Amino acid sequence: MRLGIIGAGAIGERHAAAAEQVGARVTRIVDKSPERAASLAAKHDAVADVDADTLWDDDALDAVAICVPNFLHHPLALKAMRAGKDVLLEKPMALSAIDCAELADVAEQSRRILQIGYTHRFTAVGSAAHDYIATGALGDIYHAKAHLHLRRGIPGLGGWFTNKALSGGGALIDLGVHLIDLVLYLLGQPRAVSVSGKAYSKFGVKMKDYVYESMWAGPPNYSGTFDVEDHATAMIVFDSGATLDLQVAWACNLPTGTAPDSMIAILGDRGGVAFELFGDHLLLRNQVAGRNADCKMSLAPAEQMELQMEDFMTAVRTRRPGIGATPLEGQKVQLIVDSIYESSNTNVPVEQ
Ligand SMILES: NC(=O)c1ccc[n+]([C@@H]2O[C@H](COP(=O)([O-])OP(=O)(O)OC[C@H]3O[C@@H](n4cnc5c(N)ncnc54)[C@H](O)[C@@H]3O)[C@@H](O)[C@H]2O)c1
Repeated sequence: MRLGIIGAGAIGERHAAAAEQVGARVTRIVDKSPERAASLAAKHDAVADVDADTLWDDDALDAVAICVPNFLHHPLALKAMRAGKDVLLEKPMALSAIDCAELADVAEQSRRILQIGYTHRFTAVGSAAHDYIATGALGDIYHAKAHLHLRRGIPGLGGWFTNKALSGGGALIDLGVHLIDLVLYLLGQPRAVSVSGKAYSKFGVKMKDYVYESMWAGPPNYSGTFDVEDHATAMIVFDSGATLDLQVAWACNLPTGTAPDSMIAILGDRGGVAFELFGDHLLLRNQVAGRNADCKMSLAPAEQMELQMEDFMTAVRTRRPGIGATPLEGQKVQLIVDSIYESSNTNVPVEQ
């Protein structure tokens, strides 16, 4: 597979490295910053450009990985698919479920592979939890918890991450989408029928008062914009009857040590499984020989970026989706996100 990378920032670099590791050829790098494009291109012996439109006529290019700020996902993915390229599109799929639906339609009409970058399906814990749940060991699954609490983790304060027009939102659309996708994946893709949620903006709005320890995509730009949420909470009811309790924060005052930074827990009437998002083991609860038992499944590390790229490459070769999120699955995540924002604004649940 000959791959172009659009956006040579933090994740673009990781996709390029993963592609080389799994035997794809990175032939084109685009970034609006000529320095970034040239620097990453030099590492991969690729051609550098500042404008993605230079890619579409390159017949030797099979696919692109789109790794630019969120507001560019929809227009660039449309252009790429219409030019006959398969697409690995970073999350979130787009800024709204309506835009996701258009992408899904175009992928189908143009017969392009469009895979959304929900990498947590490929972590050691994510894939082991999926395989364990698929054995049926949990029985009837009735509830899931998905929590991720960064204490002071707002990215790029005042940059594109915190500007709603460019990002579509804050902690929810940046990190919450990973949690939602992972739970949908683990639960076998149920459909949300009721969503109530609240989005809070408590830390980033007071830009100068925000005391942080680290900041990816930093340093802060105090003359920039912060008009997104730094914490979101939601309760989602699925058509299966199961519920999801979602908590995601870029910043919050949850004292360190009172709860793990992240936890995914899936509860069934016969068993349960819980793990940390970046953990190296699953905790399982079940009955063994008529007794309640807790046990720990230790896992070898997994290179999720490489596994994701390998899965994408296989999908491109076989013309069939693999483990990675399909357009309709990406759209489903976005519909829940849209509903949480709507419910937060109206203070009533959104029924679907
Ligand atoms: N899957 C994951 O775990 C994960 C992790 C990080 C980021 N992401 C996603 O990847 C995307 C990029 O995030 P990032 O952290 O790499 O951001 P970043 O700011 O580090 O990089 C974005 C790059 O895009 C370039 N760019 C902006 N506009 C462009 C344009 N019109 N044409 C070409 N290049 C352009 C910028 O110059 C920059 O180099 C976001 O959508 C983010 O949500 C996903």
